[in-house]
Amino acid sequence: MTTLLQINASINNGNGQSSQLAKQFVAAFQKRNPEARLVVRDVAAAEPVPHLDAERFGAFITQADQRSSAQQAVVAYSDTLINELKQADLIVLGLPMYNFGVPSQLKAYFDHIARAGVTFKYTDKGPVGLLTGKKVVVFAARGGVYAGTPMDTQTSYVRDFLRFIGMTEVEFIYAEGLALGPQSREANLAKAAVEIERLAA
Ligand SMILES: Cc1cc2nc3c(=O)[nH]c(=O)nc-3n(C[C@H](O)[C@H](O)[C@H](O)COP(=O)(O)O)c2cc1C
Repeated sequence: MTTLLQINASINNGNGQSSQLAKQFVAAFQKRNPEARLVVRDVAAAEPVPHLDAERFGAFITQADQRSSAQQAVVAYSDTLINELKQADLIVLGLPMYNFGVPSQLKAYFDHIARAGVTFKYTDKGPVGLLTGKKVVVFAARGGVYAGTPMDTQTSYVRDFLRFIGMTEVEFIYAEGLALGPQSREANLAKAAVEIERLAA
């Protein structure tokens, strides 16, 4: 049975355009794979991931048997996020662009799932990602148009991060120009819809 993990990173909850595209893909996938199980993780609106600070990072690097109860709670939360990823075969990420970057809550989520010895390890040949064998589809929603230009800082950052934890099969679908008038918005959402059907097939 396939398990889908839909990660929404929009501040607009499930109503964000990126979340809507992710949802559209999940619906198309489930139509073809009715047995597929869905888990939804909202990192920015419903249950915002807190920023990583010294206290939280300190919990990660403290030996398990030495952790205070507050540290145990921090690690248990991180473990929950990581276990969702471990159990997923296909990860569907809704990715808005905010002020030229990824939502800060998505960065905070990445900070909570990058755990040495759990999701990656260092070897004498460099870092090795431990969350392998998964596919990732990213739905990038943007007001402007940046894909393929140096101003698109999101694609390389998200790709590099996912590769670091072992996810190498990553596809981006862009819905850009959403703020450039109704014609641009509709045309680009229609293009994304075609891609969604192709990917879900
Ligand atoms: C606070 C904020 C900052 C934004 N910054 C950018 C930006 O830097 N570049 C861009 O192309 N669009 C920007 N936009 C437009 C969003 O990328 C666009 O509305 C997209 O649909 C957001 O995804 P969401 O609807 O899933 O939240 C911004 C929107 C907001 C609310």
